[in-house]
Amino acid sequence: MTDRNLDAVTGAFSFTGGFIARRLLAAGRRVRTLTNHPHRPGAEEMEVDVTPLQFEDREALIQSLRGVDVLYNTYWIRFPHAGIGFGDAVANTRRLIGAAAEAGVRKVVHISVSNPSADSPLDYYSGKARAEAIVRESGLAWAVVRPTLIFGQGDILLNNIAWLLRRMPVFLVPGNGAYRLQPVAGDDVADIAIWAAGLTDSVTVDAAGPDIMSYAELVDSIAIAIHHTRRIVFTPPALTLLAARVVGRSVNDVVLTPQELDGLMDELLVSKEPPRGTSRIDDWLLRNSDTLGTKYASELDRHFRRPL
Ligand SMILES: NC(=O)c1ccc[n+]([C@@H]2O[C@H](COP(=O)([O-])OP(=O)(O)OC[C@H]3O[C@@H](n4cnc5c(N)ncnc54)[C@H](OP(=O)(O)O)[C@@H]3O)[C@@H](O)[C@H]2O)c1
Repeated sequence: MTDRNLDAVTGAFSFTGGFIARRLLAAGRRVRTLTNHPHRPGAEEMEVDVTPLQFEDREALIQSLRGVDVLYNTYWIRFPHAGIGFGDAVANTRRLIGAAAEAGVRKVVHISVSNPSADSPLDYYSGKARAEAIVRESGLAWAVVRPTLIFGQGDILLNNIAWLLRRMPVFLVPGNGAYRLQPVAGDDVADIAIWAAGLTDSVTVDAAGPDIMSYAELVDSIAIAIHHTRRIVFTPPALTLLAARVVGRSVNDVVLTPQELDGLMDELLVSKEPPRGTSRIDDWLLRNSDTLGTKYASELDRHFRRPL
């Protein structure tokens, strides 16, 4: 039988899922997380049931979702790696949503991205559009939440911009740096997701913050907050990507992909809706100025290397 007080969250010990799980727990909900990293730092502080996110074992996946009221699905990949591409991420999403329907989950709140499009030349965004379609056609009640760029404890991109600013004599900005983005706080994304879970109607909403700024302004804000202002050098995008590859080799990670850069420069991280998020990125930068960028945050360590 479905326990109306139990929700499932993918990746409660990772980034976005962590904000959602913490908000649900604070609201008195019980939480089960589906994750392949059950021992990440901080996991012990969260009172959640833990079960693997196993796409290959349909019965086990269904079992892990039995009794769940709402599934908050954050699963996706940032870039293709180790033989897993965006097509696989779409297929895995289909398996997960199919298992949720089979298990009797009442509603799925699916975390997507701002401006997905089936016609997009960027696989991340076209894959996201396909994943959204799977959710809408699942027969479950659904909500799709589309964040822009998420900031908060555990983020990778902003942390690594700060890391570079702390270490490098100059900072490379691709193109003219005037393309805009609209960051949103992880806590605001969680609030929007939980609000959407409570709606009777199925909805698709953006999760975007109150400030729209250019990329160059964002880099400036980070530099000022951490007291490491650097000379900004505007470079052709290909040169920035080359530099990112060189840095990536030294830290053994993928720092920035060409598609991520295209999405950023095409302003796909800007919402066309009135913002639902209220937290200002500058406040967060100032509150976290001592720690932001002191350590490099590795995507490959987080998801591919260290089986924490
Ligand atoms: N981060 C942003 O700024 C941002 C912006 C817009 C939209 N989004 C969307 O928000 C959602 C969550 O993003 P996030 O950055 O917060 O991700 P995340 O927490 O790092 O990962 C989310 C979930 O996906 C799983 N996962 C990630 N990469 C994987 C891989 N290569 N193989 C298997 N499982 C993998 C994680 O598994 P584990 O639990 O085992 O780690 C976790 O359950 C995604 O749908 C993303 O597209 C994020």
